[in-house]
Amino acid sequence: MTTARIIGTPLSPSATRVILLGAGELGKEVIIALQRLGVETIAVDRYRHAPGHQVAHRAHVIDMTDGAALAALIAQEQPDLVVPEIEAIATDTLAALEQAGKIRCIPTARAARLTMNREGIRVLAAETLGLATSPYRFASSLAELEAATAEIGFPCVIKPVMSSSGKGQSKIDGAGEVQAAWQHAAAGGRVDAGRVIVEGFIDFDYEITLLTVRSLGADGQVVTEFCQPIGHVQVQGDYVESWQPCRMQPLALQRAQDIAGRITADLGGLGLFGVELFVRGDMVWFSEVSPRPHDTGMVTMATQNQSEFEIHARAILGLPVDVTLRAPGASAVIYGQHDAPAIAYAGLADALRVPGADVRLFGKPESFARRRMGVALASAADTDSARANARLAASMVKPFIPS
Ligand SMILES: Nc1ncnc2c1ncn2[C@@H]1O[C@H](COP(=O)(O)OP(=O)(O)OP(=O)(O)O)[C@@H](O)[C@H]1O
Ligand SMILES: [Mg+2]
Repeated sequence: MTTARIIGTPLSPSATRVILLGAGELGKEVIIALQRLGVETIAVDRYRHAPGHQVAHRAHVIDMTDGAALAALIAQEQPDLVVPEIEAIATDTLAALEQAGKIRCIPTARAARLTMNREGIRVLAAETLGLATSPYRFASSLAELEAATAEIGFPCVIKPVMSSSGKGQSKIDGAGEVQAAWQHAAAGGRVDAGRVIVEGFIDFDYEITLLTVRSLGADGQVVTEFCQPIGHVQVQGDYVESWQPCRMQPLALQRAQDIAGRITADLGGLGLFGVELFVRGDMVWFSEVSPRPHDTGMVTMATQNQSEFEIHARAILGLPVDVTLRAPGASAVIYGQHDAPAIAYAGLADALRVPGADVRLFGKPESFARRRMGVALASAADTDSARANARLAASMVKPFIPS
């Protein structure tokens, strides 16, 4: 596409239709942004009443790793754009449909395929593009894992090649912990439970997400732009807090942008990417990339002229974007705290009285103690105040099981 898409009227023959594969809290916000531009939206997830289902024109429940089911749904809906929101999708099916000219996948089917498996993206980043990464090996058995950890050394991090949100991941300090890490990975992996990556542990000062956007300029050429870096804290591989801007030394920022520019140029297409990087001093390591909005980027709903979701929606339609920071801000995750369906939330009024605070409740039908059910946002004069206020607001929202 070298020109902006013309938008039609939803639910009519002229409609511009976009199908979201995955309809969690990130997809929900992308759908809202698309709706505001008059796009007809179709939300797909593997369970009923997913957050994005609740705001889309149509909702479907399918197993998106089932290629035949995915192809049948796409044939039925005839979308102008296919937008993956999660990693666990039959990406080979998307690639075949894209190859046959039947779909346009965001950013590309190849990007979706490479990033769903840590092996694909790591080999591309480190071996093809020569980007700095942690040292790594892959292993498909306990014996291979023992050999791989001996080569990489300790401490190291072991992850299933197909997993997200820290599932199946362990940091280990010695050979005695390898077997437990192998079992943990096998239990936490998504599809191919038999393969893991071992990464040398990077003792970073801090880690960032660099939201990187590929959009169309006025001349029809792709322009790459960077949002201000987002700092974040991860607990057990899951993000709990993020803030923007994250202060960085100029050389580290330049290196981060260089890495992000190169990996996104290779992945291609249009849209927003979340490039995860580790930083120590002025050294920067590439960790991984999501070819879509990033969970730590929810903070942009409080900080930027356009949130990462609005930017993604515009970029994929060939429209111009604005990455300007409006105010420093922060996000803090609200967990379910209970294992129960249909929970309720007290304390929302108190949370919203915190200066500069806002709250999103995702409306997920079932809560788990460590499931992300909402997020508190805050903007302030500086990120320290914003972090304190976002944490305070999050702590005031009290999930409970209604009687
Ligand atoms: N090699 C490493 N050295 C140091 N810390 C690491 C390393 N790999 C992962 N981590 C820590 O674990 C976190 C999660 O790792 P990673 O992003 O690879 O997993 P993930 O399951 O894809 O997580 P998510 O889906 O939340 O991004 C990182 O953000 C970082 O804090
Ligand atoms: Mg990650």
